[in-house]
Amino acid sequence: PVHEARAGIAVRPSVIAHRGASAYAPENTLDAVDKAASMDVLWVENDVQRTKDGELVVIHDDTLRRTTDAETVYPGRAPWKVKDFTAAETARLDAGSWFGPAYAGARVPTLKAYLDRVEHHHQKLLLEVKNPELYPGIEQQILKVLSNEGWLDRRHLDGRLVVQSFSAASLQTVHRLKPGVRTGLLGAPAVGDLRRYAGYTDLINPSHTALSSAYVDAVHALTGPHGTPMRVFAWTVDDAVTARTVAGYGVDGVITDKADVVRRALYRY
Ligand code: G3P
Ligand code: CA
Repeated sequence: PVHEARAGIAVRPSVIAHRGASAYAPENTLDAVDKAASMDVLWVENDVQRTKDGELVVIHDDTLRRTTDAETVYPGRAPWKVKDFTAAETARLDAGSWFGPAYAGARVPTLKAYLDRVEHHHQKLLLEVKNPELYPGIEQQILKVLSNEGWLDRRHLDGRLVVQSFSAASLQTVHRLKPGVRTGLLGAPAVGDLRRYAGYTDLINPSHTALSSAYVDAVHALTGPHGTPMRVFAWTVDDAVTARTVAGYGVDGVITDKADVVRRALYRY
């Protein structure tokens, strides 16, 4: 278990490893989860999409090109969309060599395998529903896998899981299907519009470039669907100056590729 979890320390802002410890291991792989755990990072973020035959997998882009060797393994299958490959075809790909030879053989994880690994390390998960418009019904499927893996019990719902998306519609669906799940809207809606999200989103997660102290205050002034003040996780903050700036605004979480840099900047360890 990671240090923060073992010690029960609730740091604020939380430090969240974006796509896992993605500056140090290939993003969205189990190696990136392990790396975050080895750095005692309590939170990991990932991106969930779906294969042609309905398996939920963890990968950021809507194509396999950048983070796997799909172009080499499957020439002639352009444009290598995630949704056009089966789970078995996807499982054959190398998702680590592009990052470095030490990670050759890393795989595109299934959501199930990913959840198991995060649970193994006693970490918390910020799960992004990525490109939901490409995958009708993916919200229900994600909830099913979360349920099967024990991630919808009280302990997980009350502090170990947040589902986020750029799609407000997707979060509305998650909230309708499973009201106990905490959700976060990616982006920075106008302050005047924030209230309309408070019925089904617990967090507003903007790019750090869109943030100000007044914006964070405006979010905190609202009460989310679970009766607590809405929160703000800022992304993607990879340098000490920006980390201190957004912490000064009062954000509740900092999403980063370099958890060590952010933690040193904010907590001096
Ligand atoms: O967690 C925030 C961040 O992941 C949103 O952007 O493109 O990295 O998924 P992206
Ligand atoms: Ca993401």
